[in-house]
Amino acid sequence: TAAQFESGTLTGKTVFITAGPTREALDPVRYISNHSSGKMGYALAQAAAEAGAKVKLISGPVTLPPPARIETITVESAQEMLEASLQGLAHCDIFIAAAAVADYRPTAVSEHKIKKGSEEIMELHLVKNPDIVATVASMENKPFTVGFAAETRDVLKYAKDKLTRKNLDMIIANDVSRNDIGFNSDENAVTVVTHSGAETLPQTSKRKLATQLIDHIANQYTPLAR
Ligand code: CTP
Ligand code: CA
Repeated sequence: TAAQFESGTLTGKTVFITAGPTREALDPVRYISNHSSGKMGYALAQAAAEAGAKVKLISGPVTLPPPARIETITVESAQEMLEASLQGLAHCDIFIAAAAVADYRPTAVSEHKIKKGSEEIMELHLVKNPDIVATVASMENKPFTVGFAAETRDVLKYAKDKLTRKNLDMIIANDVSRNDIGFNSDENAVTVVTHSGAETLPQTSKRKLATQLIDHIANQYTPLAR
């Protein structure tokens, strides 16, 4: 609605958001992937647009419809997601990595369907995928860069490690060992971690959480804006 656009905390800003899983092909009919509905990334795209930002949503395969009036680029693999993320990055003010990127992909994609052999054990050879958010954060004149950390234990410790290791400005940590929230759920509870501290946001709908997170991001980003 008009009222939502009037808030305009991100008016004139360009925000890139990665969302959903990636798919890493094994052969023409199979892939390896991660659990991810894309709901959090799509909700963030909506909230950023409502705050007045120009949004580019870079999405892996999800069942959600592309949000109205938001530029949405659909990709399959981590390599494709990286390419779409780097395209036009010089114009990006804020980069939010909400995607569940496959850490590894098969070393080779079989041209034909892999046939079942007589062996009981099958081994897959995998190679590490590029780290999209770390690549973005390594750029000269990098955008304000926000990552997510889905952890099953030592949530804050791992989140802080990733904040530092990937040269991020903010990381949003959530505990995915709780099976009532996260992944395919409509609700989530997270802790926002920056270099100056951590703040836990109580459990709420992904829509409301997205608006709160965009507020946090705008607040942290604005004083740094040139
Ligand atoms: N990420 C990314 N590219 C990758 C892997 C992760 O951009 N190849 C981003 C995710 O979108 C997320 C953040 O990095 O914003 C953290 O992802 P996570 O999987 O928790 O981190 P990893 O470095 O892959 O560590 P882990 O061993 O815990 O999977
Ligand atoms: Ca990972």
